[in-house]
Amino acid sequence: MLERGIMVKVFVLLIVLMISSIYVYYNFLSIDTFIAFTKTHQVLLPWLSKLTSNTKQHDPFNNISTSTTIKTASNQGTSTDVNLIKIQANLSQKLDEVLQNSTQQYSIIIWEPPFGAKSTNHLDQSKCGACDVSYDKGKVNDSMTKAVVFHFNELRLNKMPQTRRLDQYYVWWSMEGPPALRELRGMKLSEYDNVFNLTMTYRRDSDIYNPYSTAVDVLQNIQSSGSGDPDKDLDQLISKKNAMVIWIVSNCGATKGAQTRMKLVQDLINAGLPVDRRGGCFPKNKPAPRGQQLEIISEFKFYLAFENSYHCLDYITEKLSFNAFGGGAVPVVFGAKKSDYQAVVPPNSCIYVDDFTNLQNLVNYLKYLDKNATAYKEYMKWRTMKPEEMPNYGRSTSLCQLCRVLHGINVDNLFNPFYSERYSSIPLFGHSSTPRVVTSLREWFYGPLSKDCLVNY
Ligand SMILES: *[C@@H]1O[C@H](CO)[C@@H](O)[C@H](O)[C@H]1NC(C)=O
Ligand SMILES: *[C@@H]1O[C@H](CO)[C@@H](O)[C@H](O)[C@H]1NC(C)=O
Ligand SMILES: *[C@@H]1O[C@H](CO)[C@@H](O)[C@H](O)[C@H]1NC(C)=O
Ligand SMILES: *[C@@H]1O[C@H](CO)[C@@H](O)[C@H](O)[C@H]1NC(C)=O
Ligand SMILES: *[C@@H]1O[C@H](CO)[C@@H](O)[C@H](O)[C@H]1NC(C)=O
Ligand SMILES: *[C@@H]1O[C@H](CO)[C@@H](O)[C@H](O)[C@H]1NC(C)=O
Repeated sequence: MLERGIMVKVFVLLIVLMISSIYVYYNFLSIDTFIAFTKTHQVLLPWLSKLTSNTKQHDPFNNISTSTTIKTASNQGTSTDVNLIKIQANLSQKLDEVLQNSTQQYSIIIWEPPFGAKSTNHLDQSKCGACDVSYDKGKVNDSMTKAVVFHFNELRLNKMPQTRRLDQYYVWWSMEGPPALRELRGMKLSEYDNVFNLTMTYRRDSDIYNPYSTAVDVLQNIQSSGSGDPDKDLDQLISKKNAMVIWIVSNCGATKGAQTRMKLVQDLINAGLPVDRRGGCFPKNKPAPRGQQLEIISEFKFYLAFENSYHCLDYITEKLSFNAFGGGAVPVVFGAKKSDYQAVVPPNSCIYVDDFTNLQNLVNYLKYLDKNATAYKEYMKWRTMKPEEMPNYGRSTSLCQLCRVLHGINVDNLFNPFYSERYSSIPLFGHSSTPRVVTSLREWFYGPLSKDCLVNY
């Protein structure tokens, strides 16, 4: 009887192991991702988490020196940028001169409006050089048209211009991450080898950097709408908080990442965190109408800024900048890797789900901050800092950077994490002596750098 019981257990265990290894193989491939996944979800293999818990994880709640550990970590994130500021300062005089000379008016065409929505794009000539931006396809043969921007969603190879001026840059543009293209839309991108000259996305290593927002913009928006006394504004903001955690979500499960995130929040609630869930996914709860969201968020201490994809390189959306920072709550973040966040967010501004060996510790830490006003305020201190102290200070982005490139201004490449490998042959001032070509868009967007977020491509 007893032996049969053991045999049944062994059999069941073997089946479980078989199924889980197949699952791991097809869904994660990368064991790192799997381990991270089990850690955040406390799935059936607690020993696996234990195996890795001695890797660089902080457990702030159980460690007295925590806030210094965290602070050091984020300060490291900005120290490289300080060097860039110095480089920029070194270059700034030359930059100003060249910008003043960049009066030749070039045209940028956006081939199809993204998602059908046209926006007005005015570029400040003193910062970007002279360029006009339009949706006017009729200008595509003009010698002054130096760039044509193709937004991924409307892009079809057979609807691109019939003829092509080789002095024009073709720019591939996406604000969405690999899962939204590959999984939701089935885009392979293999037909675009050697078609584009430049990439323009939220990734820091794009040729043209187009983030949802920058820390400098966030800070300037906050301070320009304030009273002029950031310390007073901060105290006032904190004093009006009367609730703990809010989450507003309307994409309930279109991608695997969106389902993961839904479960993660449920697990946090099960671990004792009071979360006020609102938005399209929770129609029975209190509403959070668009126009009032920031006001609502400002009453909470924490905002869950959870992305709908996991460990997609640099994929950090307006949930963080607009909702959490704009609304004045401390963001608890999940989605991109911690190092991706730290490279772009204000110093010591976020709480990283990935930092915690289990969700209970995270819940305990948030409750601790809820009770300790001094420790909580440390996550808000950046609101009183100067724009120069923010990461990527001085980096121009989006169509402004593109206009600079058309005028032969490439100083923003210095901020590219792969600067020395990719751009050392392109002068900071002057045009590239060889054509610039994206040889495989597919490899660049879906390939090795995206392996944690997209398994098959
Ligand atoms: C806190 O953590 C650091 C490393 O993360 C460790 O060196 C230190 O001994 C810990 N302190 C305590 C009191 O546990
Ligand atoms: C920046 O300044 C240093 C001296 O402080 C100089 O050696 C270097 O050439 C300068 N770099 C540029 C790009 O002007
Ligand atoms: C700007 O233009 C003037 C006049 O053409 C020229 O003398 C000067 O060298 C230019 N400056 C730079 C930095 O290119
Ligand atoms: C651009 O030039 C090509 C080839 O000369 C021509 O077929 C096309 O109609 C032109 N497009 C416009 C918008 O003028
Ligand atoms: C509250 O936080 C501050 C700053 O991190 C810390 O120095 C202090 O010891 C904390 N107080 C308690 C009661 O934990
Ligand atoms: C843009 O890409 C095309 C196609 O690869 C290439 O022929 C052309 O020389 C490139 N243009 C520039 C300005 O680099």
